[in-house]
Amino acid sequence: MDSADIDRQWWKEAVVYQIYPRSFNDTDGDGVGDIPGIIEKLDYLDELGVDVIWLNPVYESPNADNGYDIADYQSIMDEFGTMSDWEDLLDGLHDRDIKLIMDLVVNHTSDEHEWFVKSREGDEEFRDYYIWRNGRTDVDGWTGHLGPDDEAPPNDWGSFFGGPAWEYDEDVGEWYLHLFDVKQPDLNWENEEVREEVFSMMEWWLEKGIDGFRMDVINLISKPPSVTEHNPPEPDGFDATFDGPKIHEYVGEMGERVLSDDLLTVGEVVGDVSMDDARQYVGRDGDGLGMLFHFDHMLLDRGGDVWEYYGYDLTDLKDVFRHWQKSLEGEGWNSNYLNNHDQPRMVSRFGDDVEYRVESAKLLGTLLHTLHGTPYIYQGEELGMTNYPFERLDDYQDVDTLNPVQNALDEGVIENFDDVKDSVAALSRDNARTPMQWTDEEHAGFTDGEPWLAVNPNHEEINADTAREDDDSVFHYYRNLIALRDDDDVSDVLVYGSYDDLWPSHTDLWAYTRTLDDERLLVVLNFTSEDQQFRLPREDEDHATYADELPLHAGEVADLDTELLVSNYDEDVESDPTEFALRPWEARVYHLS
Ligand code: GLC
Repeated sequence: MDSADIDRQWWKEAVVYQIYPRSFNDTDGDGVGDIPGIIEKLDYLDELGVDVIWLNPVYESPNADNGYDIADYQSIMDEFGTMSDWEDLLDGLHDRDIKLIMDLVVNHTSDEHEWFVKSREGDEEFRDYYIWRNGRTDVDGWTGHLGPDDEAPPNDWGSFFGGPAWEYDEDVGEWYLHLFDVKQPDLNWENEEVREEVFSMMEWWLEKGIDGFRMDVINLISKPPSVTEHNPPEPDGFDATFDGPKIHEYVGEMGERVLSDDLLTVGEVVGDVSMDDARQYVGRDGDGLGMLFHFDHMLLDRGGDVWEYYGYDLTDLKDVFRHWQKSLEGEGWNSNYLNNHDQPRMVSRFGDDVEYRVESAKLLGTLLHTLHGTPYIYQGEELGMTNYPFERLDDYQDVDTLNPVQNALDEGVIENFDDVKDSVAALSRDNARTPMQWTDEEHAGFTDGEPWLAVNPNHEEINADTAREDDDSVFHYYRNLIALRDDDDVSDVLVYGSYDDLWPSHTDLWAYTRTLDDERLLVVLNFTSEDQQFRLPREDEDHATYADELPLHAGEVADLDTELLVSNYDEDVESDPTEFALRPWEARVYHLS
């Protein structure tokens, strides 16, 4: 990569921190986090050094899916506070030079949103805001247990949260589509008025001063004709709803109408997104999004159901990142994340959360901050927070865990919860949602009341107070990683340098370079709990196991200044980057110039 080709944007140089407000900090003792609670922690965020906050939904909602079922896009959920609290939050962030992006959930609303209430009442103006269809009568053997006798749902789609994706409404006499919970009816994007409503709502938030949007399941908004037309052609499979036929028209329209390069925009794209679609979303002449959250690395260790946990291979993880890093190079920008509010804790999933928790949390942080793309930190990650020791189904709160597991038990797909309890515990979204661990006190200092979801018992050891006092903590390591993006000596190569995998087939080590002009970073990560040996290949070596084209060989290093930029072991380490032993979960970053 040549520095002359750099297309600078503030959001490429930023580090984003995600806040799940329900679990962040509670100030009124109701056991649920709130906006004043975030305000109370602004100095903590400032100390960490992050540049942007992504706030999960804080809008009015009956909470069937913790705020992703929105009843009013322009007001704040009572449990979280008021609009004036939200304004104070925005001011407090901006005072500290921290930007704010909001969650945009427009594939669906709550069934308690006024639009749906009116649509259901038969109000002509709102009827087509949602997707209402007749059932099928030509399906043999349909038991009619979901709708009228002899009537089957309009197609066979199942919802993401278990059960059919259609709900029959007796008063309307038709079925409505809900790709998620029954309380989350899908909006009909075919309807121009829906698009207008969404775009003007986005403008309203931008005028209030926000700095961008994270777009929930944005690649689902265009449904295939078999769903949108009243006299549909042959039914489509569920996959037809991913990156549907008019998706780029709709996202492109949003881009043109509402978005600009100054905003941080990141679209969540579920399913198997092709690189052509990806480039269309975020490419130079594309729809106008800045980044995507794809799921390729989140699906390596699991099947489609929350009880299907298999573990992952490092080479597969590297393949996913290489694919995205190289395919978007020079064309679009990557987002990098290893966990969020929908995923288990990264140190439990990809690291060793028992013996090498601190080392592996730091190693994963090193990866996140040295890949090409914008890093997203999920609250508590900077403390090395782990999965929760879930035991019983009653321990969970999440619809995406409870509903599918309960359905599978009812239908005999699973015989006993005990048979699947370890897998469910490894994968449940609730792992990420246990309250933030601030102190070693009761409820980890999260609340004075009863927390809505149990606090991890390990808060006595893992908490922000302890981490801030300990110079070797994950917290301080993260502060250093974040600060690198502002360090003039390395920031350009760190942010804009191209990514090259040095040793793709190595099953235990992940080694790569970042290159900008003649500056390089060499990153070497030991993804095991054993010692490993690293050696930079010689130029003339038969490098069958190395990359086809070596981005760096040992001979080049002799002529370069080398500096050990980052290391997650506190003892002094050898400064020669050409050959060295790595301890369990050791991470090193060398700067070569
Ligand atoms: C996204 C959100 C998730 C939510 C779902 C439905 O995947 O991240 O939390 O349940 O969309 O809105």
